[in-house]
Amino acid sequence: MKRRIGILTSGGDCPGLNAAIRGVARAAYEMFDAEIIGIRNGYGGLIEGDYQEMRKKQFSGILTLGGTILGTSRTPFRNMRVIEENGVDKVAAMKKTYKDLELDCLVTLGGNGTHKTANLLSEEGLNVIGLPKTIDNDIYGTDFTFGFHTAVDIATEVIDRIHTTATSHGRCMVIEIMGNKAGWLTLYSGVAGGADVILLPEIPYDINRVAETVEARANSKKPFSILAVAEGAMSVEESKMKKKEREAYRASLPYDCISKRIAAQLQELVGVEARSVVPGHIQRGGSPSAYDRVLSTQFGVHAAQLIRDEHYGVTVALKGNKIVHNDLKDIAGVPKPVPMDDPVVVTARNMGINMGD
Ligand code: F6P
Repeated sequence: MKRRIGILTSGGDCPGLNAAIRGVARAAYEMFDAEIIGIRNGYGGLIEGDYQEMRKKQFSGILTLGGTILGTSRTPFRNMRVIEENGVDKVAAMKKTYKDLELDCLVTLGGNGTHKTANLLSEEGLNVIGLPKTIDNDIYGTDFTFGFHTAVDIATEVIDRIHTTATSHGRCMVIEIMGNKAGWLTLYSGVAGGADVILLPEIPYDINRVAETVEARANSKKPFSILAVAEGAMSVEESKMKKKEREAYRASLPYDCISKRIAAQLQELVGVEARSVVPGHIQRGGSPSAYDRVLSTQFGVHAAQLIRDEHYGVTVALKGNKIVHNDLKDIAGVPKPVPMDDPVVVTARNMGINMGD
């Protein structure tokens, strides 16, 4: 049995992409006569016909490597059917590359946007299998995406390191964690790092409520405060605005990110010395954690099994401790925000962490 497999990584990178690519390849070579074509730089490479026939040895030594050996790019789903100035019909171009390469299937590793395009290509008749990666953990239908736990470890280490300097100076430290629409990373790292306040995009905050905790701590024997704030956190007032209105409001403020704004507000309201910290893309860099190496490998191997069984139009997922798959049409474009009754939210509240509301 022979299968020609195209594989690409799309959207923001994360640790574990290479481990997942390796999982697909190793299991595919093990199970059947596999030929693997690496598509460069995500859907951009599929559109432009930028690819490379891979050899078995290229999948060796990449388990621990961060980033993606295939390169990646953001090719927004909303533009996929738009013909740009260069006149290229992107969907037709992707189908042509797939056909020219005589692929039996395409494996796409990515987040929400990647899955929407994967579903589009599946509807267009291509055999597609998705693998869910993102440090945001916001893909519907899977308990966890790969890349998430590594980012939690990194963000937790940032909080730990900030903790010691916050203690020395008795300062209020506002740490901005990645996650624009979903607060999973902030929630987990905030709890793991022992934050006093955790602000998520899903729970609009009242700055006066936040100030109460910071003030109470400032007057205690432990005068420092640690705030874990998602980059997409928003105040109660902002949550009532439409997206465009909110963007215009933020642009009118003298702060280029939420953590600077909150630090300045707390300095003003409470009179504490406050600092903001933005670890940014450090949270997406470097080697995957042991957990993510295992999960990525399991996801990759499951994808190879699906290819063997010619089971397409699906994306791999973790449910409980089982690796399963969901139909692309059921999960593509469905968000996964942190629910208010999530066990970790409940845990945080029960131990007195201020969630801003
Ligand atoms: O989706 C992953 C993510 O890191 C988000 O948490 C963040 O908002 C965004 O990507 C940053 O995107 P970029 O790498 O394009 O700056």
